[in-house]
Amino acid sequence: MQQNKIKHINSLNEETKSQTLILPIIKNKDFSVDLLDMNANRLLIDTMLNEDISTNGEITVLHTPKSLFPNFNYLRIFCIGLGLIEESNLSSVRKSGGSLGRYFLNSKIEEANIFIDSLNLFDNEELIESFIEGFFLGNYSFDKYKNKKSKSDNFFEITSTDSKLAIKNITTKSYEKSEAEKNARNLVNEPANYLTPSKLADISSTISNKKLKCNILDKNECKKLGMNAFLGVSQGSIEEPKLIHLSYKPLPNENSFWYIGKAITFDSGGLSLKPSGSMFSMKGDMGGSAAVISAINAIANLGLMVNIDVLCLATENMPSGSAQRPSDVVEAMDGTYIEVENTDAEGRLTLADAITYAKTFDPKFIIDVATLTGAASIGLGKGNISAFSNNEKFMKNVKNAGEKSGDHVWQLPLDSVSKKQNNSTIADIKNTGGRLAGSITAAHFINHFVGEIPWVHLDIAANSMTSSNDGWHNKGATGIPTRLLIELAYIFEK
Ligand code: BES
Ligand code: MN
Ligand code: ZN
Repeated sequence: MQQNKIKHINSLNEETKSQTLILPIIKNKDFSVDLLDMNANRLLIDTMLNEDISTNGEITVLHTPKSLFPNFNYLRIFCIGLGLIEESNLSSVRKSGGSLGRYFLNSKIEEANIFIDSLNLFDNEELIESFIEGFFLGNYSFDKYKNKKSKSDNFFEITSTDSKLAIKNITTKSYEKSEAEKNARNLVNEPANYLTPSKLADISSTISNKKLKCNILDKNECKKLGMNAFLGVSQGSIEEPKLIHLSYKPLPNENSFWYIGKAITFDSGGLSLKPSGSMFSMKGDMGGSAAVISAINAIANLGLMVNIDVLCLATENMPSGSAQRPSDVVEAMDGTYIEVENTDAEGRLTLADAITYAKTFDPKFIIDVATLTGAASIGLGKGNISAFSNNEKFMKNVKNAGEKSGDHVWQLPLDSVSKKQNNSTIADIKNTGGRLAGSITAAHFINHFVGEIPWVHLDIAANSMTSSNDGWHNKGATGIPTRLLIELAYIFEK
């Protein structure tokens, strides 16, 4: 898979590998930048006077051949328009960065120097970070299974001449966040015959290190814990289920924030089989686990001073002679009897036992992230993640992290009317609540197991994959909400 490397430098005249200069252009009368070459400066100023090259997301290439620009280090300048300064925000800037990153996917250019002095006009380090992050995120493709790779590895230099700017910090943060999100995309894009529950467990062990501990439980250990809701989902598959627990604890003797991810490596629906059209994208039903695993890895790399635990109960949901039947009753780890009305509502069954397991560690807060219901897309479309909570303070933190990362969340209610839809005639609760308010009844089901612990549930079924290139996302997996989870850790750190 294609990899990016970065390096920061302090002057355009420093030893450089790149022949391409990237220049963000903000629409503002005070725009100024010194390219350290009179001819190149004049070319830029004249072009800006005569053409509109600052429109948001627009790319203009200025060629600076050696014959005409003998003293200029670069053969071309890629100008990327950021639009009007007063209309810029984190997402608009990330979007422009994204279009340029995507443009580079289809070009032969492998090395470029991003000259960010022009961004000082913003007087806002977060906006600079967002532009660089967008660029890295747009520069993503999944070509692992193409013998002919479209793109080789990239090398990007980032130049700032401003000694006051915390450039190292900005680039490290944007690089770690974008690498994490791209890592999540890789996991979601990976076909289910390659990414089995055991493979996901192996990957989690591989990223563990001195700071990040990994504990894997197998089927028998889960059985001993009484995780029958989880194991009921897995019993139709020949793939072994795995409990994956990653733990990052820089602060001894402090309780953790728990990030739980749905990890269905393939959701056929089970005996309540999905029609083939809806089944095709179900290799992505582990999008929640991809995000939480990638996020904790970045949080540990960045060395944030906050204790985080990640938990993923990984399994396939398959039909077979040994599969769970619609109408089966399972006893969950906390003793709740669940009537399985529909085997395709499997995510909430695995989350039920995940939450009970997490509760044995006395968490400060639980966030679960799950591609849980098709109804999430019907309710909100793709522009927002459907969110639910029993604690407004934590919900506010998650909303703020969503604004910062551009993974926007919208809260839906946990009302007492729809809660009754989960009532079962023969058991404590059933795993479906009918057609109405499908995302809300799923959230109520999870809430039953959470109880009073501060909790936020993110239903990312609408957002985990996209069918078109848009902003900093390319067709396929989005990696949402990896960066939200990292920003949340920054909020918890304070
Ligand atoms: N994994 C699906 C939800 C999903 C749908 C994710 C579309 C991504 C895109 C989930 O397990 C599921 O099948 N949910 C059912 C629940 C129903 C049976 C109550 C659904 O949404 O139809
Ligand atoms: Mn399902
Ligand atoms: Zn599912």
